[in-house]
Amino acid sequence: MSRRRYLTARGLLLLAFGALVIAGAALTDQAQTQALPGDEQIWKDFLAWFKAAPLTPNAFGDYAAELGRQKLPKEEIERRFGVIMRLFSIRTDGVEIFYDKTFSRPALTGRPEEDGFASTPSEFLFGAVKDVKPGRALDAGMGQGRNAVALARAGWTVAGFDISGEAVSAAARNAEAAGVRITAMKDDYAAFDFGRDQWDLIALIFAWAPIDDPDFVERLRTSLKPGGLVVYEHFISTPERRHAPMVRALGPGAPREAFAGFEIVSYEEIKGTGDWGGPDSNLVRMVARKR
Ligand SMILES: C[S@@+](CC[C@H](N)C(=O)[O-])C[C@H]1O[C@@H](n2cnc3c(N)ncnc32)[C@H](O)[C@@H]1O
Repeated sequence: MSRRRYLTARGLLLLAFGALVIAGAALTDQAQTQALPGDEQIWKDFLAWFKAAPLTPNAFGDYAAELGRQKLPKEEIERRFGVIMRLFSIRTDGVEIFYDKTFSRPALTGRPEEDGFASTPSEFLFGAVKDVKPGRALDAGMGQGRNAVALARAGWTVAGFDISGEAVSAAARNAEAAGVRITAMKDDYAAFDFGRDQWDLIALIFAWAPIDDPDFVERLRTSLKPGGLVVYEHFISTPERRHAPMVRALGPGAPREAFAGFEIVSYEEIKGTGDWGGPDSNLVRMVARKR
C-alpha cells in the first residue's frame, strides 16, 4: 500500500472509531435517562406501594426505607420524594388511598389516636348549631359520617360527600345502623356541584378543604341560602408545627381572611387537642354566615 493510501485508510478507521465512541456515549446517556423514572412513573410506583403497604403513622418514612432497600442513592430518594410530596398535594388519588385504608381498619377502639379517626360527633359543630332550626346540611369531606349521622338524628336533612369510597360506604352503613337517612356521595372538592342557595349549613370539620382557593370559598358562599352557616374546624400550620400541604392547614389568621366575604359569627385559634386527635395542636374554630 502506498503511504498516501495507508494514511487515508488509517484516517477512515479513526473517524469510524470516533463515531462509535460518540454513538456509544449517546447510548449511555440515553440509558441513564431511561434508568431515572419521570414524575408519572415515580407517582405510579409510590401509589402501587402505598396501596399494598400496611397503614402506619409514618408511611413516607416506610417508603424511604423501601427505596433504600432498593439501593437507590440518597439524592435519587430525595428527588423522588420531592415529586411525591408535590403530587400528593395536588392530586387526590394518594389521599383517597390513605383514607380508604384508614376507614377500612377492622378493629376500632373509639380512640382517635389508635383508630386513626374520631367516631363521636364534633362538639364544636353541635355547639355552633344548637340554636339553629334544622334545615338542609352538607357535610363536606364527611369521613365515615360521624357528624352527618348525628345531624340527621337531630332533624337535619343531610347530604355528605367524601373522596374515599370506604368513607362513603361506612357513612351509609352508620346511617342505616342509626335508623336515619343521609345522602352519601363519593366525590371531591374540585368536582362536587355545591349548587346555588341550597344549604342552611355546610360542615367542614377537619375536612382538608381547599379554603385557600378563593374560587372554592365562593362556591361555598353561592351554595348557601342567605343566612346559611359554614362551620369550620381544622389545624393551623405554624413554623413549629407544620402540616403536610395536602392537609390544607392554613397559617394563623388565614381562615378568617379566606372568609372575608362572610359575616364571621365566631372565630378562635387555640392550642389544644382536636376531637380528631393530635395533642398540642394549633386549631381554628370558625362559624361564618352568608350575608
Ligand atoms: C380528617 S378526615 C375528617 C372526616 C370528617 N369530616 C370528620 O370530622 O369525621 C378528612 C376527610 O376529608 C376527606 N377528603 C380529603 N380530601 C378530599 C377531597 N379532595 N374531596 C373530598 N373529600 C376529601 C378525606 O377522605 C377524609 O374523609
